[in-house]
Amino acid sequence: MTRRLPEPIEQRMATLFDVRLNPGDTPYSSQALVDALDGCDVLVSSITDRLDAELIAAIPKSVRLIAQFGNGFDNVDIEAAYAAGLTVTNTPSVLTEDTADMAMMLMLALPRRLVEGAQVLPAAGTWPGWSPTWMLGRRLRGKALGIVGMGRIGSAVAARARTFGLGIHYYSRNRRPPQLEDRLEATFHENLDEMLGTVDIVSLHTPLTRDTHHILSRERIGRMKPGAFLVNVSRPELIDEEALVDAISDGQLAGAALDVFENRNGISSRLLELARQHRIVLTAHMASATLEARIEMGETVIVNIRAFVDGHQPPHRVLPETRARA
Ligand code: 8YV
Repeated sequence: MTRRLPEPIEQRMATLFDVRLNPGDTPYSSQALVDALDGCDVLVSSITDRLDAELIAAIPKSVRLIAQFGNGFDNVDIEAAYAAGLTVTNTPSVLTEDTADMAMMLMLALPRRLVEGAQVLPAAGTWPGWSPTWMLGRRLRGKALGIVGMGRIGSAVAARARTFGLGIHYYSRNRRPPQLEDRLEATFHENLDEMLGTVDIVSLHTPLTRDTHHILSRERIGRMKPGAFLVNVSRPELIDEEALVDAISDGQLAGAALDVFENRNGISSRLLELARQHRIVLTAHMASATLEARIEMGETVIVNIRAFVDGHQPPHRVLPETRARA
């Protein structure tokens, strides 16, 4: 197990399996991970482990299963793992509602200036008192929300947004069944560029793949409606972050709420500056960070491992995209 998991999960793991923990919880370097896997059958990975083709080739042959603790698995080269005969599993569904709550929370926080407003009293200590023009934000009700990726999480966000009076629009690789569209009163857009030009808030709920890398390119960000907001609780690489920072700095976009951001060489100082100016809200990859979700994610990992070692098809197997489609 490359990271610490909640106590009950680690205890259960230790009862069921011969477990090797990472007591310090510091992400492993590639070499340290290869060394730690010596004699292991299963790797319990998470987003902080970069399991690229090179690493997959280097891990001991005894490892047969990569049981990812997470819904997303873009940190794993699924093609390389498949070619090497490794099974990969993930933990979908159990974090859907918490992640959707976070997206909704950010969608409310941004136009209503929640973070900025919550800092006024602690920072100043005093407050001159209410005034009719104090802390004016923008109304959510009646605005149009554009969801990119209407899967489990996208649909759960749409259901919440509906009750806040937002009009639901979506772009997805596959159009969703009419029953779902009816229930969410959702309008499908075949063309992402066209949707981006019409909605007031864009929320990203698509997984990171080769096709979705920078799906919000500089050009597409330029097509967004002037004064629009962007919410991202998915993966940072979906957005050309530099272009987003430019669009907010120039005033083309009103703001963004990001739970994920490029962090390989440290968070961009321009992004941090915009957060200080309250033009964006930055949260630290916490969309699924509830105790309940983490425990259910851990339980899903256990079920996947148990099924696999007992010779069954694990319930949440991930396949390379071409095979999954077939
Ligand atoms: C997890 C996530 O915290 O599950 C996902 O895809 O993005 C997060 O909610 C993290 O990835 C665990 O590996």
